[in-house]
Amino acid sequence: MISLNNKRILLGVSGSIAAYKSAELVRRLKEANAEVRVVLTKGGAEFVTPLTFQALSGNPAHTNLLDTETEAAMGHIELARWADAILIAPASANFIARLAQGRADDLLSAICLATSSTVAIAPAMNQQMWANAATQENLQQLKQRDILQFGPGDGNQACGETGPGRMLEASQLAAHVAEIFETGLLSEDTVLLIAGPTQEAIDPVRYLSNRSSGKMGYAIAQAAAEAGAKVILISGPTSLATPPRVERINVRSAQQMFDAVMQHVAHSDIFISAAAVADYRPVRIAGQKIKKTEDTLTLELQRNPDILAEVAALKNAPFTVGFAAETENLEQYAREKLARKGIDMIAANLVGEDIAFEADENTLLVLTAENKQPLARASKFILGRQLIDIIAKQKYNVSI
Ligand SMILES: Cc1cc2nc3c(=O)[nH]c(=O)nc-3n(C[C@H](O)[C@H](O)[C@H](O)COP(=O)(O)O)c2cc1C
Repeated sequence: MISLNNKRILLGVSGSIAAYKSAELVRRLKEANAEVRVVLTKGGAEFVTPLTFQALSGNPAHTNLLDTETEAAMGHIELARWADAILIAPASANFIARLAQGRADDLLSAICLATSSTVAIAPAMNQQMWANAATQENLQQLKQRDILQFGPGDGNQACGETGPGRMLEASQLAAHVAEIFETGLLSEDTVLLIAGPTQEAIDPVRYLSNRSSGKMGYAIAQAAAEAGAKVILISGPTSLATPPRVERINVRSAQQMFDAVMQHVAHSDIFISAAAVADYRPVRIAGQKIKKTEDTLTLELQRNPDILAEVAALKNAPFTVGFAAETENLEQYAREKLARKGIDMIAANLVGEDIAFEADENTLLVLTAENKQPLARASKFILGRQLIDIIAKQKYNVSI
């Protein structure tokens, strides 16, 4: 059973008789837990109606580029950013030619130009059209631009001929889409990750905590598992589901998180601190609920262990990655933290109203002692994968 958990797949349907198989493909992608949006070319919409794809995907099917309503709802740039991967299935000879030319005269080709996500095509055409030098030259160009090609298969064709040009079956295409996310970059590594907030008890019913949702850390845990790592996620209280193939250990307080980290760190190759660990905890935890008697109440706080610094200071420390959430002077403060804590890499982000804490999107500035790499605003799942890529390259000494 393939998994496309939390993946946003944009399915492009162009003008081929094989378009009927794409309806089934939507089902297969959804069964694997992907969120699917369908964009049809003019040709595509002649073969299967947008309504069919809308009903199957549970999302509006998009067709027009120069349409005020469509642009106001979810425009071409938003769709390009939304997608974790774009699959054009079927990809007609004509659409392949448009893609090779870099045209942007319809919605689907404009999205393909505007995206930074992986684009894949599943060609479908008559075997003569497939063999034509023009088609083959176009495909060569797409290959050079890192556009993936799934199929085509060989066999009986709708036109009555036999040969290469059949679109792959829906289940084969869904499996190829899942493979896009399985990079294998960290297949040798154990990744220890902390995520979410901590809760520091004041009395039996109250605690000090923060606004961390855990979403960034969980997205990184998922990306690390997809990269083939063994992943141990030590998590503060969150309402998030554990990503597939991730071992999760639940904790509440910073001290519990610290203890769990120390128990597992010796067998870890990479440590990623994406948790918002409370710096302080109450000196005393009241045995009974504190009563509302005085006008003011003073809590005395003491420092919690600095998990990140303690891990970085270990003999045989793993490759250590921290996060810095700042409200100003992002690069300067992050560089100071990188040096002060003696860690290998820091991912810094500005916190604001609709970004970072609790939000689904973020931007990151990834710093090492020698390098800096800004990651543009994107979903936390995309950023998680980009960060895992950077960590793998840095750890295995490929310059970023
Ligand atoms: C019945 C029929 C079936 C077709 N099947 C295919 C096909 O499988 N592959 C292909 O590349 N073109 C096929 N074509 C031609 C395309 O539909 C035509 O080139 C169209 O302009 C492509 O539109 P698009 O650019 O929106 O994909 C077919 C045309 C017809 C009338």
